[in-house]
Amino acid sequence: MDLERLLTDRLAPAFAAVAGVPVDPAVRRSQHADFQSDAALGLARRLGRPPREIAAEVRERAALADVCAAVEVSGPGFLNLTVAGHALGGLVSALAADPRLGVPVVAEPETVVVDYSGPNVAKEMHVGHLRSTVIGDAAARTLEWLGHRVLRANHLGDWGTPFGMLIEHLLDLGEAGAAQELSMGDLDGFYKAAREKFDDDEAFRERSRQRVVALQGGDPATLRLWRLLVTQSEGYFLTVYDLLDVTLTGDDFRGESSYHDQLAPTVEELDRLGLLRRSDGADCVFPPGSVGRDGEPLPLIVRKSDGGYGYPATDLAALRHRTGALGATRLLYVVGLPQRRHFEMVFAVAAQAGWLTAPARAEHVGFGSILGPDGRMLRSRAGGSVKLAGLLTEAVQRATALARERNPELGESEAAEVGRAVGVGAIKYADLSGDRHKDYVLDWERMLSLDGNTAPYLQYAYSRVRSIFRRAGAAARPDAEVSLAEPAERALAMELVGFAAVVEEVASGLEFHRLTAYLHRLAVAFSAFYERCPVLRAEGPVRESRLVLCDLTGRVLRQGLDLLGIRTPERL
Ligand code: ARG
Repeated sequence: MDLERLLTDRLAPAFAAVAGVPVDPAVRRSQHADFQSDAALGLARRLGRPPREIAAEVRERAALADVCAAVEVSGPGFLNLTVAGHALGGLVSALAADPRLGVPVVAEPETVVVDYSGPNVAKEMHVGHLRSTVIGDAAARTLEWLGHRVLRANHLGDWGTPFGMLIEHLLDLGEAGAAQELSMGDLDGFYKAAREKFDDDEAFRERSRQRVVALQGGDPATLRLWRLLVTQSEGYFLTVYDLLDVTLTGDDFRGESSYHDQLAPTVEELDRLGLLRRSDGADCVFPPGSVGRDGEPLPLIVRKSDGGYGYPATDLAALRHRTGALGATRLLYVVGLPQRRHFEMVFAVAAQAGWLTAPARAEHVGFGSILGPDGRMLRSRAGGSVKLAGLLTEAVQRATALARERNPELGESEAAEVGRAVGVGAIKYADLSGDRHKDYVLDWERMLSLDGNTAPYLQYAYSRVRSIFRRAGAAARPDAEVSLAEPAERALAMELVGFAAVVEEVASGLEFHRLTAYLHRLAVAFSAFYERCPVLRAEGPVRESRLVLCDLTGRVLRQGLDLLGIRTPERL
């Protein structure tokens, strides 16, 4: 049990007795003591009593003697709580004996669909897909570790009008030639060449149009060529996922095309429900609350005037499938903020249609852009969009060079492994450690630095723990008594027991910067502890106790980074 919960459980009955109704004690970490409760302030008006008097009465009634060394009424009516050393030590011991580090498996597991990555066939993945992939993977890992049933959905852009020109271009190159070009990962080149012909060549344009019709009509020869394109691209995406160390596999592809058969029934159902309106020849739904800048209602186009279905219809069909056939109650869409409006409208229409009713709910897990050093959208030197694979290779190269420089004893293959863990970890961490709604600047120096709120700093802290145990020649004794005489020991223990609360918070809000901030605080507390409190030079119970603190720090760092998809090498 974490401390916040423990103190809340102890304070709640006292507040309820004073107020006559249940009250959330609102226990928070505090600068002034270990924890603070400000619930008395909120109650004052309701009870018509001075808040300090309420706080004092709660203090009298609350059963805190075994947990707190001091409980004080302060300021306008705060309760300042100082945790007793023995209580904290007991919690740390319990944590040490718990393989889940105090984080219980959820009592009521949900089926959660995490829709992430979602690159487009025959197009290069760009840095926006990087963010989706990294954030979505952290969400999938975290929810899975908590015991939820997680379904990964890679909503590949593998359908629609561009496939006419892509297939025609494939035929022009010849199947073998096209396959070679695509497997090299030159997806953008392929797409651009097709686009150029489409723009310049009337005959090609006409062929492409006919090809779209054949594709949508299910012509077998056309479908075979289309599948060729999809398979080539999927293969390329899988190499990127592998490089990036994400848990997405070939089984998780749920391309737009896979909802093809459900598009007509989905739109028919909207029609039956009386939700469709004709607007400029297209079938639309006008969800309540969606209005444009000048206040006029905004349509979600579900069937275009040419009779085709587009991106919105596909998302409606996918959502209906997820809550219906898959029985999911939590739907996550990890997609950039520019698509916010799209998802608002899709969710609103789905709610109207009855496909998204409690307990099922959908969340757009939006994120900002990655910016270059100049503060503008990240661009390659040639001015095009930066390719994901290139970015990753660069990160790994830089990190490997740094690892060799810092630690010449590392063998060739270990240096490569460390370089990969640190390079990929640095990129992911940079992505996860800021408020995801904001843009962030890609800064190699900073993200690969061993100081600061970075992956290498945490990985370094972890490797220090491991080095202690290599030198100790033994593991920590999990049943050793934990004593917290030194302030630095106490501070480290306070962080360790806070892991569960952070994981829980992150599982609901999916704000991973709260987890990175926590892990960083933990590593800082560990480093202060390590400076001030000798471990291997200590003796007897003190040494035993400190080894437990080291061991727990290592395990929490490792688990926390694992939730983020970041590796922890034994040596840096
Ligand atoms: N393929 C889309 C894009 O590149 C992302 C798909 C996101 N997922 C979804 N269900 N719409 O913008």
